[in-house]
Amino acid sequence: MPASSDRLPPSTPSITISASWQRRSVASVWHPCTQMQRMDEVPPIAIARAHGPWLEDFEGARYFDATSSWWVNLFGHADARINAALKAQLDTLEHVMLAGCTHAPAVELAERLSARTGHALGHTFFASDGASAVEIALKMSFHSWKNLGRGDKREFVCLRRGYHGETIGALAVTDVAVFRDAYDPLLMRSHVVMAPDARQAEPGESAADVARRAAAELAALLESRAGHVAAVILEPLVQCAAGMAMHDPVYLREVRALCDRYEVHLIADEIAVGCGRTGSFFAFEQATSADVAGREVPIWPDLLCLSKGISGGYLPLSLVLSTDAIYESFLDDDTARGFLHSHSYTGNPLACRAALAVLDRFDDEPVLQRNRETGALLTAALAERLRDDARIEHVRQRGMIWAFDVREAHAGERFAERFHLAARTQGLLIRPIGRTVYLMPPYLLNEEHVAYLSARIAATLNAVL
Ligand SMILES: Cc1ncc(COP(=O)(O)O)c(C=O)c1O
Repeated sequence: MPASSDRLPPSTPSITISASWQRRSVASVWHPCTQMQRMDEVPPIAIARAHGPWLEDFEGARYFDATSSWWVNLFGHADARINAALKAQLDTLEHVMLAGCTHAPAVELAERLSARTGHALGHTFFASDGASAVEIALKMSFHSWKNLGRGDKREFVCLRRGYHGETIGALAVTDVAVFRDAYDPLLMRSHVVMAPDARQAEPGESAADVARRAAAELAALLESRAGHVAAVILEPLVQCAAGMAMHDPVYLREVRALCDRYEVHLIADEIAVGCGRTGSFFAFEQATSADVAGREVPIWPDLLCLSKGISGGYLPLSLVLSTDAIYESFLDDDTARGFLHSHSYTGNPLACRAALAVLDRFDDEPVLQRNRETGALLTAALAERLRDDARIEHVRQRGMIWAFDVREAHAGERFAERFHLAARTQGLLIRPIGRTVYLMPPYLLNEEHVAYLSARIAATLNAVL
C-alpha cells in the first residue's frame, strides 16, 4: 500500500515571480497597442533587468531585444557611457522649464544637431515623444505660412500606409488602418498619395522607377492643390510601421524638387529612421541633388522630426529641427505670431544629456562603419538560412533594418501573434507587423549575436509555419 501522502494531488506549482508580475500588470496596467482581452493568451513578459541587447525576466530567462524596444535603444541596455552621463546630470540639474530659462544640455544638443545638418536646420524645438514632434511640425508649417500671409495653406499630404504617431493631429497624416479607422471621425482630412514602396515594382521596373512613379502622383496633386497645401510629410527611406516598406533615395530628391517648385514645406519624420538606423546619421543624408556645376550636394527637408533613438532609448525626448526661413517667419513683436506650443518636460536636461552621450558615441567611435561590417554578417547569415525559402518573399535590408514578408498562403490566422509567442520560446523579443518579420537590433552586434539571431529566426519560422 502506498503511504497516504502518495495519494495526495500534486502540489500546486509555485507561482514564479515573473508570473506574479504578469498577473498584477494585466489587472492594473492598460498596455499600449494591445487588445487587453487577449492578455491570457499573450501575457506581457515581466522584465527584471537588462544589459546590452539582453532582457532578463525574474527567473533569469533571457530574450534578445531584436527590435530595440520599439526602435529606441541604440547602444544596448544599461550602457556604461550613457549611465555615467545621466548619473552626473542627475546630481547637477534634473529639470527646469525651458520657457524663461535655458540650460547647457539643451543648448549643446541643439548646436550639435544643427552642425550635423551643416547648419541647414539651425533651430531646435524640443518635446517629449514622437507624436508631439509631428504635431509641432504640422503646426509650425501652417503657422509659418499664415505669418507670411498665406493662411490658405492649411492642408497636408502624407503617403499611403505612412505612420506618424497616434495623437489626433499625427493620426490625421497616418494611413495605417488599424490605428486610424476607429478615430477617423475625429480627424482632419489629409491628402494620401502613392508611397514609393519598392515592393510595388512591376516586372522590369526598378526601385527608382517606382519612386519616380510615386513622385509623379504627388506632382499631379500639387499641380492642382499647392495653393492650399502647407506641407508634405514622409518617413525617409523606410516606412517602418507600414511593415518596413523601403524605397529608393531618388524619391527624396524628387519630392524636395516638387516642394521647392510648388512652395510647399517638406517634413521629414526621422523619428524611427534617424540616428544611424538607415546607415547615415540622418536618413535624408542619402539623398543628394546636382548643383549648377553638376556636383552632388546634400539636400534637406524644411522640418525634421527626431525622437526614439536620440536619447539612446533611455528617456522620452523628441525635437523638431527647422530652417532659418521657417524660424524667421515667426519673429515679430506680437506674441501671437510666435510659435505657440509647449510641454511641461520640454527639453528635459536628463533626456538632453542622454542624447549628448549618444552623439558622443557617434563622434568618438566608428558607429556607422561598424554597423556596416556587422550588418553585412547578419545579412549573409540570414540569406544562408532563408535562401530559397518559398514561404517568404521580399527579403530586404537598409542599414540596421532587416525584413521579409511571409506569403499570405503560408501565414495563417494571427501570424504576428503566433510568431511573437514562438519567438519568446527561442529567447527573442520580436513583434512582426502583419506578415512582415523584421529585425531592428541595437548597434552592438557581434558574431555571436548574428549566429543567435539568424538561427532563432529560422527556428521560429519553422515552428510557426
Ligand atoms: C515614423 C514615426 N513617427 C512617429 C512615431 C510616433 O512616436 P511616439 O510613439 O514616440 O509618439 C513613430 C513611432 O513609432 C514613428 O515610427
